[in-house]
Amino acid sequence: MTTEATSPSVDNLQTTHDTGGHVTSRRAFLAGAGAAAGTAALGANLLAGASPALASGEMTAGDAAMLRFAAAAEIIEADFWQQYNELGGIQDSEVPGGSGNPAYTAALSVLDSDMAQYVHDNTQDEFSHFMFLNAYLAAHGADPVNLDRFKTLPSSKASGAQQIGRLTNLMELTVDTTWWTRYRSATKNPDFGDTFPPAVPGLLKGQFPAIPRSDDDLKPDRHLQAIANTAGFHFATIEQGGSSLYPSMAQRANNREVLRILISIGPTETMHFQTWSDKAGNAPPLTDPTNGLVFPDLNSKPFGGEDFQTNLIMPEPTIFLDRDLPVCSIIRPTNTNGIAKGVVDFLTAMGLFRGQPAEFLSVLRGLAAAADAARFGE
Ligand SMILES: [Fe+2]
Ligand SMILES: [Fe+2]
Repeated sequence: MTTEATSPSVDNLQTTHDTGGHVTSRRAFLAGAGAAAGTAALGANLLAGASPALASGEMTAGDAAMLRFAAAAEIIEADFWQQYNELGGIQDSEVPGGSGNPAYTAALSVLDSDMAQYVHDNTQDEFSHFMFLNAYLAAHGADPVNLDRFKTLPSSKASGAQQIGRLTNLMELTVDTTWWTRYRSATKNPDFGDTFPPAVPGLLKGQFPAIPRSDDDLKPDRHLQAIANTAGFHFATIEQGGSSLYPSMAQRANNREVLRILISIGPTETMHFQTWSDKAGNAPPLTDPTNGLVFPDLNSKPFGGEDFQTNLIMPEPTIFLDRDLPVCSIIRPTNTNGIAKGVVDFLTAMGLFRGQPAEFLSVLRGLAAAADAARFGE
């Protein structure tokens, strides 16, 4: 199997400045709400030089667009995390739906004996993220996001999965693992245009299942372990994307409460990423006998050293903002321009939407363009 193209990574998120979106102007937004008093306050605040939205407490159209894009991203996360949980997580009333697949759960537990609990908790978090964001939008007179009509992709046929329509496809993934080296570099930063090698090059060169497609995938053992390893790396790939999305958008929030939402959800994505980056390092080196996918020994040559050693799980301080400043331990990238479009491109390139119609991508791109058009002070 070969992939169509080298997958773009979040390394590239900072380079695109999308201006294709259309956002209702803040003045129209206020007028539409019939806020004559608010408009008067706006004038006074402009005279005083204050940011009008911050001073007035209004959520701008741009703020709403960023929350809507975040809600869409969280709906997508919840959809695929639920698929992981049905087969490999704890089954309880907090995350209902599946009945568990003991062989897949056992293969995941090779990465950490608590994997089933962590999968469950990450799933619950994603549901809470999109439900909160949508409820907040609705409570403030803005449109929430509903992607239910696109829940048409098939479920895994393996024992333990519900048979319902899905938004996302976990059975043909092309996983970008360049976050592994990006977070270990002491001299490079994607916001400076730097690129990074993947930890598992094979995962970028094909389409691989991260869940068993049917019970036929439960053997031989090394095939099932390769599927669990793919999941283990995919978990971190996804959550580092969220770790960059939220601080990148937060820089353009006008309303203080919207800023608070973005900077309160964002770090939970980073808590997930930190956990998963640690677990991915425990994925056993192996070759999948059914398709040749190689998980290399990251502690031995030609891997190993500071760029690959598996117990290096904290971000390495690197260049930030200006090469002349001291290096700093940071989330990377956080350049705000084009971040939402970059996330859509990133999710599309990993194959998460394989099987979705073009209309689905155009809806996502529309939400991204509106979020990317949001500006601080407008
Ligand atoms: Fe989330
Ligand atoms: Fe997440």
